[in-house]
Amino acid sequence: MSKTYAPPAAMAANAHVNAAKYDEMYAASLADPDAFWKEQAGRIDWIKDPTRIKDVSFDLGNVSIKWYEDGVLNVAANCIDRHLETRGDQTAIIFEPDDPNDAAQHITYRELHRNTCKMANVLKGMGVGKGDRVVIYLPMIPEAAYAMLACARIGAIHSIVFAGFSPDALGARVNGCDAKVVITADGAPRGGRVTNLKDNVNKALLHDTDDVQCLIVKRTGQQIAFRNGLDFWYEEEAAKVADDCPPEPVNAEDPLFILYTSGSTGQPKGVVHTTGGYLVYAAMTHQITFDYHEGDVYWCTADVGWVTGHSYIVYGPLANGATTLMFEGVPTFPDASRFWQVCEKHKVNQFYTAPTAIRALMGQGDDFVTKCDLSSLKLLGTVGEPINPEAWDWYYNVVGGGKCPIVDTWWQTETGGHLMTPLPGAHATKPGAAQKPFFGVMPVVLDPTSGEEIEGDGVEGVLCMKDSWPGQMRTVWGDHERFEKTYFSDYKGYYFTGDGCRRDEDGDYWITGRVDDVINVSGHRMGTAEVESALVAHEKVAEAAVVGYPHNIKGQGIYCYVTLMTGQEPTDELRLELRNWVRQEIGPIASPDLIQWSPGLPKTRSGKIMRRILRKIAENDYGSLGDTSTLADPSVVDELIDNRMNR
Ligand code: WTA
Repeated sequence: MSKTYAPPAAMAANAHVNAAKYDEMYAASLADPDAFWKEQAGRIDWIKDPTRIKDVSFDLGNVSIKWYEDGVLNVAANCIDRHLETRGDQTAIIFEPDDPNDAAQHITYRELHRNTCKMANVLKGMGVGKGDRVVIYLPMIPEAAYAMLACARIGAIHSIVFAGFSPDALGARVNGCDAKVVITADGAPRGGRVTNLKDNVNKALLHDTDDVQCLIVKRTGQQIAFRNGLDFWYEEEAAKVADDCPPEPVNAEDPLFILYTSGSTGQPKGVVHTTGGYLVYAAMTHQITFDYHEGDVYWCTADVGWVTGHSYIVYGPLANGATTLMFEGVPTFPDASRFWQVCEKHKVNQFYTAPTAIRALMGQGDDFVTKCDLSSLKLLGTVGEPINPEAWDWYYNVVGGGKCPIVDTWWQTETGGHLMTPLPGAHATKPGAAQKPFFGVMPVVLDPTSGEEIEGDGVEGVLCMKDSWPGQMRTVWGDHERFEKTYFSDYKGYYFTGDGCRRDEDGDYWITGRVDDVINVSGHRMGTAEVESALVAHEKVAEAAVVGYPHNIKGQGIYCYVTLMTGQEPTDELRLELRNWVRQEIGPIASPDLIQWSPGLPKTRSGKIMRRILRKIAENDYGSLGDTSTLADPSVVDELIDNRMNR
């Protein structure tokens, strides 16, 4: 039996959802989804109320997901305009810059309105209209939120590319969605260092024949190469336009954004989220999972380049009229107390971060935490990967002082919002468990071989969803077939998450990690196929196979088996060269941790690489390699074990 931590009495008494209400609402959400979600639609303002609530098919060949399909609304009006009367002067966004010596900014809802309208009018002036795509490649500055909301305001579709991605990765995404405009900055300060964002954009667009325009926010004031006729300074353009822009009425099923994410095969795919269902779900989960109350200061440390930043820095919090903090920096700059200093400075009430950050900070010692006044904290959250019990305990006791519930939120880019999490005023938390389904969510554990549902408690298998929820992705941009194949073909009639899971004796869910070829490095999703294709693009590499292995801080590290072209010398210099090559091709987050020279890879007679074996070797787990007799050349395995990387 794992130890559990009951909700603090005061929180349970005041929570949006307590234990009894969770049971009642969860039952209602399954009994009559239409009635339940019709009522929840009332959380947001509609220009035309939806009358058709749910229309979903998970049938392969005919997958179609629609929520609120005849509703009309505008996301920016929901996140800004509807708050102006009651909280126009309340802070919407607190901006904490990379350098703690630079002043923080407090942006009110009224200012947010003005800035978003200006950005919207500038985009319109550049020819952007409803349905057009805009790529956002910005640091974590308020302009990133203005840009997202400006697109939403005029019905344009944004696609944010994490500012740590390379020019090649950026270029692929700009082309992938055929963007009209890229919004960027001159440079991005992070951890005291600057990334030359505009340079990266120029490299990304170098061979582009579509004349993609670029809107540049001045962040660092550094020199940039300006492309006349195509590049515009945001500040100059904003000075020329009006500070009001009417919100465009948008259908509930019109796309709000595309976000590229890694899968088990091929290049990243553009996950498409639409407008109505996404906003209802983001707003509802933000309010209930974090038990957000009027006046609270809420901080999610993610980057807007990831889905967590979309749903839980910008759309969910602002739809709820919250005060949301945007942090430009990193947890360890200038030192390992930065997170806690920011919490103290802005009296943060809810704090949401990733296990990898917790593990890294835990390793620096308690003093960095205990020297700060964290008495404002009421709740802690984690996301991105399973949290190990040691990190959970440290987070709970040292950061939370033993008084803040931890919500371990399991979800995905594809799900739009939390699908499983304990609710802080309802459930006794269990370290490491994602625990309970959110309202309307129907998790099932399937037998990976038979695809049958495994009933009962104390069972393990792959995690699927039996039915839809409003925040679910609708398609892969430009490739609905890939959408169906990726998520609905392995287990017919279900949405397949790609994760394994266990339902314990109490019926609580534990995520056991990916069961496909996706690895989770510091909470970032990385497709092994992507790293492999970057490696084989190097002239000295003949073949490569990439797997994950357990890593103390990152959760998983990137382990590469590389076969060189005949005649190439396997040297440490080449190892470094390949590492830098991958960083350049994809970005620093894809940097290989270990590269093992592998004259041969274990393959079946039909030529398929046996990743299962490579994973075991990377994990130092040779006892259970399984049957290797089907390999074309079984001796390859002994050689790989003899030459494995020491660590
Ligand atoms: C993993 C991030 C365990 C999981 C929101 C999932 C988690 C993938 C948790 C999605 C958690 C996310 N516990 N594992 N609380 N949260 N994951 O798309 O493997 O970047 O499939 O979305 O992260 O990553 P993504």
